[in-house]
Amino acid sequence: MSFRLVVLVSGSGTNLQALLDATTSEAFGARVVAVGADRDGIEGLARAERAGVPTFVVRVGDHAGRDEWDEALAARIAEHRPDLVVSAGFMKILGHRVLGAFPVVNTHPALLPSFPGAHAVRDALAYGVRVTGCTVHLVDSGVDTGPVIAQQAVDVADDDDEESLHERIKTVERGLLVEVVGRMARDGWTVTGREVRLGRQKASREGSRTGGLDGKESQRQGRTTK
Ligand code: GRF
Repeated sequence: MSFRLVVLVSGSGTNLQALLDATTSEAFGARVVAVGADRDGIEGLARAERAGVPTFVVRVGDHAGRDEWDEALAARIAEHRPDLVVSAGFMKILGHRVLGAFPVVNTHPALLPSFPGAHAVRDALAYGVRVTGCTVHLVDSGVDTGPVIAQQAVDVADDDDEESLHERIKTVERGLLVEVVGRMARDGWTVTGREVRLGRQKASREGSRTGGLDGKESQRQGRTTK
């Protein structure tokens, strides 16, 4: 049984491409069953089409409001029965219908909780940090506030501008996202408070939620494992 991924994109989709490339190997343990977007005409959708992966577009502007958009997006995602939704450069805040129905991970180009939001690389440069990086985290209802799964640091060079720094971060980010999603698919995960542990835990601590192919039920129902 293969772990099913729905990937959400808004732009160039190089993180999506890294996942598509990784999932060509069966040993990765997961496959991309659909790619969703909030806009047409983006390279991310073209990458999915070239890989023969079904796509769907759910635009905010086609709905009466954010709630209706959230509901429509949740319905389109649900058609593909994902075990995990990956927000990979998806530039919209997900609503409670999507977040209540599926576990969602996001990749962010900064070391959270520093520099959340849509301009993380610009904000890190403006602040003058010497080290920044990327974060893969579970998504909650806040803006880049969900529990951190993995992070990797990237040095800021003296002559960096936003574009050069973002490109270096993205190189690291793609590797980290592939590694984390692969481990979630193969080994599952446990969330205790804000602490996320990949792999099967010997004994789940009180108040933990588990995810993955084995733990899907308890993740979905938010059940407490002892
Ligand atoms: C990534 O750096 C992601 O973290 C940010 O936007 C970028 C998307 O890049 N939110 P791509 O579309 O995967 O190339």
